[in-house]
Amino acid sequence: MNRSVSLMLNGRETALEVRTDETLLDVLRRQGLRSVRETCGIGMCGACTVLIDGRPISACLYLAPLVDGAEVLTIEGMARREELHPIQRAFVERMGFQCSYCTPGMILTAKALLAENPEPSPDEIREYLSGNLCRCGSYLKIIESVQLAADLLRAGGAMPA
Ligand code: FES
Ligand code: FES
Repeated sequence: MNRSVSLMLNGRETALEVRTDETLLDVLRRQGLRSVRETCGIGMCGACTVLIDGRPISACLYLAPLVDGAEVLTIEGMARREELHPIQRAFVERMGFQCSYCTPGMILTAKALLAENPEPSPDEIREYLSGNLCRCGSYLKIIESVQLAADLLRAGGAMPA
């Protein structure tokens, strides 16, 4: 059975026709949003994380019809034209990735964390990102990246001297 949903997808009003039994992951990938990645498919790894109304959600577990009326953000919606979001810049600056497979989910989860807590401690970052796994083991660099992102956002987005 199909259903029409309308949502704000990466800042754009979007109308979609979805099956009632398909996941948001499948629908977003069909829209060409390939940053939303399936790895475990059972809510364990965080590779498919998107923000729904600002909250990190595993898209592999979320039924697509439930996004009706919601705001959905994927990593494709973070940069403004050619300008990376400060959290993206922080990950580049601190090399918070190796293969980058986990990176979209990490960055989106970090965005939700920093909206809730603009100055998290390393332990608070670890705790908040604990649902996002990095098979390359880049955790130390990821934590440094989130700390720099917090500094950047508190400074209004500018790179500190
Ligand atoms: S693919 Fe969704 S949590 Fe792993
Ligand atoms: S950078 Fe490779 S999985 Fe995290």
